[in-house]
Amino acid sequence: MYDVVVIGGGPAGYVAAIRASQLGLNVACIEDYIDEKGGPVFGGTCLNVGCIPSKALLDSSHRFYEASGHLENHGINIKDIELDLPAMMKRKNGIVQKLTGGISGLFAANKVTPIAGRGKVLAGNKVEVTKSDGSIEIVDSKNTIIASGSSPIEIQSAQFDNNNIVDSTGALDFQSVPKTLGVVGAGVIGLELGSVWARLGSKVTVIEAMDDFLFMADKEIAKESFKDFKKQGLDIKLGCRLTSSKNLKNSVKISYENNGKTEEMDFEKLVVAVGRKPNTQNLFSEDSGVHLDERGFIFVDDHCQTNASNIWAIGDVVRGPMLAHKGSEEGIMVAERIAGKHAEMNYDLVPSVIYTHPEIAWVGKNEEELKSEDIDFKVGKFPFAASGRALAVDQSVGFVKLISDAKTDTILGVHVFGPSAAEIVQQALISMEFGASSEDLGLTIFSHPTVSEALHEAALAVNNQAIHIGNKRK
Ligand code: FAD
Ligand code: NAI
Repeated sequence: MYDVVVIGGGPAGYVAAIRASQLGLNVACIEDYIDEKGGPVFGGTCLNVGCIPSKALLDSSHRFYEASGHLENHGINIKDIELDLPAMMKRKNGIVQKLTGGISGLFAANKVTPIAGRGKVLAGNKVEVTKSDGSIEIVDSKNTIIASGSSPIEIQSAQFDNNNIVDSTGALDFQSVPKTLGVVGAGVIGLELGSVWARLGSKVTVIEAMDDFLFMADKEIAKESFKDFKKQGLDIKLGCRLTSSKNLKNSVKISYENNGKTEEMDFEKLVVAVGRKPNTQNLFSEDSGVHLDERGFIFVDDHCQTNASNIWAIGDVVRGPMLAHKGSEEGIMVAERIAGKHAEMNYDLVPSVIYTHPEIAWVGKNEEELKSEDIDFKVGKFPFAASGRALAVDQSVGFVKLISDAKTDTILGVHVFGPSAAEIVQQALISMEFGASSEDLGLTIFSHPTVSEALHEAALAVNNQAIHIGNKRK
């Protein structure tokens, strides 16, 4: 009998397993994804086909883009540049293998028992494991943590054939650069993977159903980044809903509605990235007692406890943003609660990053959200065009926006489009965890020259004290 059995070894599940083991509990982690030898491959979507391979390709493709005629203003002219896509993919795959192998190593060091197979939650804290050879094992446990993650949503109008019409996993593994690439959905995946292939030479068109670009982001950031992505060659068609697609032998013809008119386009490949759905199919026996919400997510309270006793659920399979760091922190909280500690998670401060170039990142509330909640606020902004370091590193697009409470000056949100946006937001987030005001950040010394100084200046700008932008004297 285990103290804890975790179903799913992604960033939510494997972190929960390691933390529970650190706390002295006897833990097993069941993973369905196996290698050619039949062993479990841990790391989930994030390490295998998500965060890590996408960031590896974003980095490689950015280097290729810079080397192919975009360094001339630095006085660097590179001739006869050649793309070796197999080598680029090999590097990406090598990083994935290193990291997934690393999790197995961490499990061994922490005495977490790996189990290969498909887990199903039965009543009475039992888990049925179906092995790849069809055999079944029943595992008993005092606590079950479900971390089965999510999968790409498939739409009727463009069904995956894993060749011409692909999901994000397929788009991370093209064997040649498609001359033309259609992307359905201008969300996080559409922008990141659209950027990768555009930088490598594809003509990329993104079809987005909503009229607003990046509706979840700060409006000014969305507007500024939209302009910049267009300049980078991403043709983003807003307010266009895909209605049908025809999979021809070497291409895909799509039809979409644009302002009531039907338009058509042809692409060599089509990526469908319209969101992800929780992996909850065939996960429960009828008497397991675990309830799902109306969208198929496992219903949990603020501490990730399901309505069945001693069954918990974390990560993409429950409410909240589908982000690796959110799932991992939930894993730690649940492991600690199982061990009798009183861990909590601060859902107000989960950062979001879109790893385009420049990056988009934010934490806390944006102006629209604060207005809808009738909260009075002050705004400070600082453009990277006025940052010495941003100019020196040739990344002077975008700005930092800091929002604080009109009365208390407590920082309520930080939104960045520009160089190292993710790292800048992380600095702001740490200060927000400690309840900082914009004045506190303004009184903090930042190294010069760094792009982070833009955060300092934005904090000063909240109270009209920024040094490197022209504040009007009253
Ligand atoms: P998953 O990572 O999906 O892991 C679930 C695991 O459970 C899988 O290994 C699966 O095989 C296994 N499993 C499922 N059902 C069973 C079962 N019944 N029995 C046994 N095992 C089972 N997030 C970020 O924060 N930053 C990023 O930069 C980022 N980039 C991304 C890029 C792409 C292209 C994609 C697709 C996603 C990206 N994400 C990113 C999202 C991130 O990958 C997910 O939020 C994260 O992986 C969720 O973790 P999880 O552990 O909940 O689920
Ligand atoms: P998404 O929710 O970010 O974006 C989907 C987009 O598709 C939306 O803009 C939506 O309006 C649009 N859409 C939906 N149906 C459509 C249709 N029929 N026609 C045209 N457009 C349509 O989902 P995405 O990009 O698939 O990513 C899934 C999740 O993976 C993200 O929500 C995020 O949580 C995670 N992720 C995180 C990353 C990061 O943190 N950097 C990177 C990649 C993914």
